[in-house]
Amino acid sequence: MTTLRDALRRLVAELRAEGIDSPEVDARLLTGAAAGLTAQDMVLEPDRMLLPAQLARLEVYRQRRLAHEPVSRILGRREFYGRTFEIDGSTLDPRPDTETLVETVLEIADKAGWRERPIRILDVGTGSGAILVTLLAELPLASGIATDVSDQALEMAARNAERLGVADRATFALRRSLEGVEGSFDLLVSNPPYIPSGEIELLSREVKDFDPRAALDGGDDGLAIYRELARGLVRAVPAGWAVVEIGAGQARDVVDIFKAAAGGRLKTVVIRRDLGNHERCVAIETHKVLMTH
Ligand SMILES: C[S@@+](CC[C@H](N)C(=O)[O-])C[C@H]1O[C@@H](n2cnc3c(N)ncnc32)[C@H](O)[C@@H]1O
Repeated sequence: MTTLRDALRRLVAELRAEGIDSPEVDARLLTGAAAGLTAQDMVLEPDRMLLPAQLARLEVYRQRRLAHEPVSRILGRREFYGRTFEIDGSTLDPRPDTETLVETVLEIADKAGWRERPIRILDVGTGSGAILVTLLAELPLASGIATDVSDQALEMAARNAERLGVADRATFALRRSLEGVEGSFDLLVSNPPYIPSGEIELLSREVKDFDPRAALDGGDDGLAIYRELARGLVRAVPAGWAVVEIGAGQARDVVDIFKAAAGGRLKTVVIRRDLGNHERCVAIETHKVLMTH
């Protein structure tokens, strides 16, 4: 006979011994999910006996977490900007850092009047759909296209769009960078893979063993996709904004790549920091060049 309290205590101790960062929080989330209990139930009924089926589920979760699989992957869902996204092995586990990109876009939206008109958004490398689906939910007149090189990720993104009520304003397309993306957009957003290939092995097991390689690997210097996006920028966004997430120390290089590609069409450059005070995204405004005689 195992009580909730016993199961929790044991799991916390095992996760701690394995060197896992947040053993208490993780043990609570996994035990609650295995037993089908809310956080409140768990506080109110610590002596509740766990049934064999609940213990069996918890054992599976325990083994997966001890193998360093993140809790969000075990449970197949992640909170992003206040909404729950389903994830699977084909999608990046959306990170809180990426909420900086969403906030940057929403500030631009307020200044540019995007809440009052039907803007078009392109999200390159959508993964679970976290960025595009969030923006469509926050900007009710907007519509958009989400691309990825993974069919399975696109299916997951489409499911998230459906569940979060924005599917009628979203299209999903298998595309590499801007190849074959037609039309023009007010906003291009992307959280592309930006880890230099040689640094992937240095990442934590939670990341390198569970996030898909295609979501991490940014080529030799981590900047490959920024170059591809910059090449097509002024065609895709003739007068509007591109807001891209960046990795550690990449801000200058990314700005230079976009400046060189956009030339006289580049109007404004903004670098935004995340809550950890790291440079996290670059926003570029393009404008049409006026013909003078
Ligand atoms: C870092 S993940 C970001 C996922 C999601 N946007 C998020 O922020 O959670 C990058 C995504 O880009 C996709 N990807 C990689 N290379 C790509 C390319 N050249 N064109 C389009 N998508 C690409 C990957 O499959 C992955 O889903």
